[in-house]
Amino acid sequence: MSTALRLAPPVAAPGVQAGAGLHVAIIMDGNGRWAVSRGWPRSAGHTAGVEAVRRAVEAAGDLGIETLTLFAFSSDNWRRPDAEVRALMRLFRSYLMAEAAKCAKNGIRIAVIGRRDRLSPGLVRVVENAEAVTAGADRFLLRIAVDYSARDAILRAAGRCQGAGAEEELSREAFSRLLADPPHDGLPVPDVDLLIRTGGEKRLSDFLLWECAYAELVFTDCMWPDFEKGDLAEAVRELHRRERRFGGVPGPVAVEAAAAR
Ligand code: FPP
Repeated sequence: MSTALRLAPPVAAPGVQAGAGLHVAIIMDGNGRWAVSRGWPRSAGHTAGVEAVRRAVEAAGDLGIETLTLFAFSSDNWRRPDAEVRALMRLFRSYLMAEAAKCAKNGIRIAVIGRRDRLSPGLVRVVENAEAVTAGADRFLLRIAVDYSARDAILRAAGRCQGAGAEEELSREAFSRLLADPPHDGLPVPDVDLLIRTGGEKRLSDFLLWECAYAELVFTDCMWPDFEKGDLAEAVRELHRRERRFGGVPGPVAVEAAAAR
């Protein structure tokens, strides 16, 4: 197999303009601590976290965000106590059941990324229904990562390359498309412009490692259930304050050079 990566730089210049179809990804951390600090069970933090999800989705469109990817359950989260895992799965199910029709009406397409083979058949049916009901929506893409591991997603994409016996040169763009698991064939896997992590920790935790190659990172001490629309707006403002050089030099020369390549 010859799969040499074409090392041309990503054509990133158009995507860096303010409000131009941003992809924001969020590691929604801090639910457990938020609840425990109130003397409540950790699952109460996840329940409150769902309301923060609703606020973020409502706010996103007005902030120039076209794709929002939320880290809801990592493949490593199976190590949590059974009761917490069950509570989270119930929340995903009830959120998708409650929101699918509303999302479709509001032009929001839902895609649940990650492995499905370890989810319960009932949850898989709800996921498939939410995706089917919203499949025609094209204003906004809401991606929810459940049983997701970036390294596993990259391995699966590499396996698909092998399976296809790819002899031709493999570009970054082509590999990005291969990152979409079969239920999402044809759906874009855009680079992340802004990665937000709440809860005070400063790490990526195996989330969107390929897609975040040039993401701007914003870490906040705010616990996820306290994350308000204004916090999302401030993070997007912070993105726009930053100069994204994609390895080039400061100023318009860098953008022109990237566009010319
Ligand atoms: C991390 O906080 C959060 C999670 C593992 C679950 C995130 C889930 C939600 C926000 C609710 C459901 C989401 C959707 C999309 C309906 P943590 O529990 O690790 O917090 P801690 O670090 O304080 O323990």
